[in-house]
Amino acid sequence: MAEAPSSLVLRRPDDWHVHLRDGAMLRAVLPATARTFARAIVMPNLRPPVTSVDAALAYRSRILEALPEDIDFEPLMTAYLTDDLDPDELARGFAMGVFRAAKLYPANATTNSAAGVSDLSRISAVLRRMEAVDMPLLIHGEVTDPDVDVFDREAIFIERHLKPLRQRHPRLRIVLEHITTEESATYITEAHLSGDERIAATITPHHLHLNRNAMFIGGLRSDFYCLPVVKRECHRRALVAAATSGLPCFFLGTDSAPHPRSGKESSCGCAGIFNALHAMESYAAVFEQAGALDHLEGFASEHGPRFYGMPLNADTITLVRRDQSVPNRLIPPESARVGDDAIPDSEWPLLFHAGETLSWSVEPTVR
Ligand code: NCD
Ligand code: ZN
Repeated sequence: MAEAPSSLVLRRPDDWHVHLRDGAMLRAVLPATARTFARAIVMPNLRPPVTSVDAALAYRSRILEALPEDIDFEPLMTAYLTDDLDPDELARGFAMGVFRAAKLYPANATTNSAAGVSDLSRISAVLRRMEAVDMPLLIHGEVTDPDVDVFDREAIFIERHLKPLRQRHPRLRIVLEHITTEESATYITEAHLSGDERIAATITPHHLHLNRNAMFIGGLRSDFYCLPVVKRECHRRALVAAATSGLPCFFLGTDSAPHPRSGKESSCGCAGIFNALHAMESYAAVFEQAGALDHLEGFASEHGPRFYGMPLNADTITLVRRDQSVPNRLIPPESARVGDDAIPDSEWPLLFHAGETLSWSVEPTVR
C-alpha cells in the first residue's frame, strides 16, 4: 500500500456556497474563508435579501472593506430570487459580472427565506431569461409542504419540482446546493453519466461527517442542526462516495452558516453550521478515510470553476499532516469586537469539529 503523504500541495480552492453575513459577523468570519479560498459564491439571504444590482454591489463593497489587507479574495455575488424579481434587472447584473448566479429559496425553506419563491410558475420569465443568457440557477432543493416529513423534503423536491423544471428549461445550468441524500447523489450522477453537463451539486463538510444521530447525542444538539437537515448514515455514505468519486458534477460548497450563540442556544435554534475555519482540513479527513486524497483537488479546486466557466486559480495551498485541536469558539478579529454592532464574547459562534483533533493543517497561501 502507498505510504500516506505528509503534505499535499493543491491548486487554491474556491467555496461555491458560503454565508458571509454582514456587519460585525462579516468582519468576524470573512478571514476564515478568504485565508483558504480564492473565491466564494456568497449567499444573498441577508435581511433584507440581495435582490438588486445595487444591493449586490453595496454588499460586495462591504465584503471587500472587511477583508484583511494581506489576503486576496474575490466574492462572487448572487441574486435572491423572489416572486417578482424583474428578469431585466437579473440579466443586467449578470451581464455586468455582478451577479454570478441566482439563488432559489423556496419560500420559508430555511434561514431568511421568507421572501423566497412561493411557486416556480411565478418565476418562469426569470428562468427563461437565465436559460437564454446561461446564468446558473442555485437551488435550495427542499419542498416546504408541512405534510412532508422534514427528512424527505429533498428527495421529494427532485421528483415534484426539479425534474419538471428541467423539462421546461432543458438548457438551464443548475447547481443543486448542499445535497444531503442518496437520491440527490444518484440523480446528479446519472445525469452526468448520460452526458448531461447542465447540472451539478455542492456537498458540505458536515454532511460528509455527520448523520442524524449527531443532533440527538446525549440530548438535543442544535449545533448539528442545519438545513437541509443531516440524514441517515446510508445517505452520508452515498455523499462520501459522490464527493470522492472524481466526477466533475460534484464540487465543494461549505454552506458555512455562522449564527450568534444565542441563535443556536435557544428553544428554537437556528439552522446552520459554521465550518469555514477548518473546512479544507475537514474535507481532507473525509477524502483520506475514503482512500481518495488524489480526488480532493478536483473536488475543491477544479470542478467548480469548470462548471461556472471560470479560470482555475493559479496559486496553491499546502495541507500538511499535522494534528491540530479545534477550539470551541471562533475568536473574532479585533475589528469584529469593536463598533456599534460588536459581537460580545458570549455570542462568538461555535466551530464545527469543536473539541476534536484534525490530522491536517492548511499552511498559508503561496503567492
Ligand atoms: C443557512 C443560513 O443560516 O443562512 N442555514 C443552513 O442551515 N444551511 C441557510 C441555508 O443555506 O439553508
Ligand atoms: Zn446555505
